Amino acid sequence: MASPICIYGNPVLRKKSEPVKEVTAETRTLADRMLGIMYAQDGIGLAAEQIGHTEAVFVLDIPVAADKNDQGLPNNPGVKMPQAFINPEIIGVSEETTVAEEGCLSFPKLYVPVERPAEVVLRYLDRDGNAQVLNAKGLLARAIQHELDHLNGVLLVDHMSPVGKLKHALLLRKLKKQNQEPQ
Ligand code: NI
Repeated sequence: MASPICIYGNPVLRKKSEPVKEVTAETRTLADRMLGIMYAQDGIGLAAEQIGHTEAVFVLDIPVAADKNDQGLPNNPGVKMPQAFINPEIIGVSEETTVAEEGCLSFPKLYVPVERPAEVVLRYLDRDGNAQVLNAKGLLARAIQHELDHLNGVLLVDHMSPVGKLKHALLLRKLKKQNQEPQ
């Protein structure tokens, strides 16, 4: 079976998401489906656009072991995973930034160093429709910003330096050609 993930070149990835008016069983079904697809691809995050939807929803399942500070302590203790984030909005960012390599299920085999604020405050609705505020750092903060980019139609390629774009020009062109809708 073909992967249900939309790859770079698919126009849906450039769409801006629509806020979810009311969190319903349908929203939860979408989130659960997204998690299933994400796990099947060994991902830690997935945005609705990546499976062809435009609802403002992303899901994350960050392993605690992958998100520790220099002292080996969890960056985000007490944050339960997996989680669905509905109508997410960043309401605060740290001045401090960090650079780390990011991958994306919509860009197979591409890893790009991206500079982002080290900490963010996220406001969102949880899967029961309750308003939540989350302070995130480390990998969780990075993943939140990556998935929120998707909901705004912003992709990994937009964070690449001119040199990086040259370096990966062939791969990017190939992906785009293979995944564009037939004209
Ligand atoms: Ni991505």
